[in-house]
Amino acid sequence: MQRLTRKLKAQGVQFGFVPTMGYLHAGHISLVKRARQLVGKTGQVVVSIYVNPTQFAPTEDLSKYPRDLAQDKQMCRDAGVDILFVPSDTEMYPAEFSTYVVEEKLSRRMEGASRPTHFRGVTSVVAKLFNIVLPDVSVFGAKDFQQAAVIQRMVRDLHFPVKVVVAPTHRERDGLAMSSRNKYLNPMQRDQATVLWLAMELARKQVKSRSVAVERLRSEISKLIATQSEARLDYVEFFDRETLEPVEMVKRGTQMALAVFVGKTRLIDNGTL
Ligand code: PAJ
Repeated sequence: MQRLTRKLKAQGVQFGFVPTMGYLHAGHISLVKRARQLVGKTGQVVVSIYVNPTQFAPTEDLSKYPRDLAQDKQMCRDAGVDILFVPSDTEMYPAEFSTYVVEEKLSRRMEGASRPTHFRGVTSVVAKLFNIVLPDVSVFGAKDFQQAAVIQRMVRDLHFPVKVVVAPTHRERDGLAMSSRNKYLNPMQRDQATVLWLAMELARKQVKSRSVAVERLRSEISKLIATQSEARLDYVEFFDRETLEPVEMVKRGTQMALAVFVGKTRLIDNGTL
């Protein structure tokens, strides 16, 4: 992969990169389209598919994570992807692997608090993928808002020569954010999963013309989530879009992020209020 990029880059070809864990859906494809816009017709769009073990805790869904490489390949072909990079575990993590990249601030709260080893795995694998693929630009989804912020910080702090672009969250018609993990939901759970979107709509309505104290909004959202028998709130946070610092008063423009268990499946979503 690296040899190929080096060769083409010497000829002036631009590389756009979309890292994924596969089981692709329209959300991933929207990132591919953005990458194509960024590098143009003469550029190369690279997608990686790698279910990265180091970002899953031992109790999480690594072995059950959905996979369908044949379908992913077809979707990439249809979307005009030039290069599909699918490394193996032994290529990515050779024996005696012992070096990690750790972001120490933005990664502490929210997903980092609920999944303490998660972002270490994400930053490490993305750093490795950047070094292998050598992209000029890489596209990440706003669906994983904190992940995108952590990657942007890593790129800045460690001087990776890559431009990070964050593309909007792609949703189902009823507002549910597309996610490979939606596959785990049974029909009733799929129905109830819209509660993440409804929670954001509720917050948007509340802060439309005034600011509201975090605790008040949090309790209203807890109540809303509790109306769905399969749903259990993990966290809901209100914070500044740029710094990720929590706010006390929520107003228009505040960023909201939440994680909700629907049955055994943990879903996340976020948006600007
Ligand atoms: P994965 O969950 O497969 O997501 C790959 C990329 O697609 C991420 O940038 C994610 O934010 C984006 N994405 C997922 N659902 C989306 C949606 N509904 N709309 C827009 N973008 C969406 O995130 C990962 O993989 C991994 O952590 C990875 C970065 C590949 C490192 O292993």
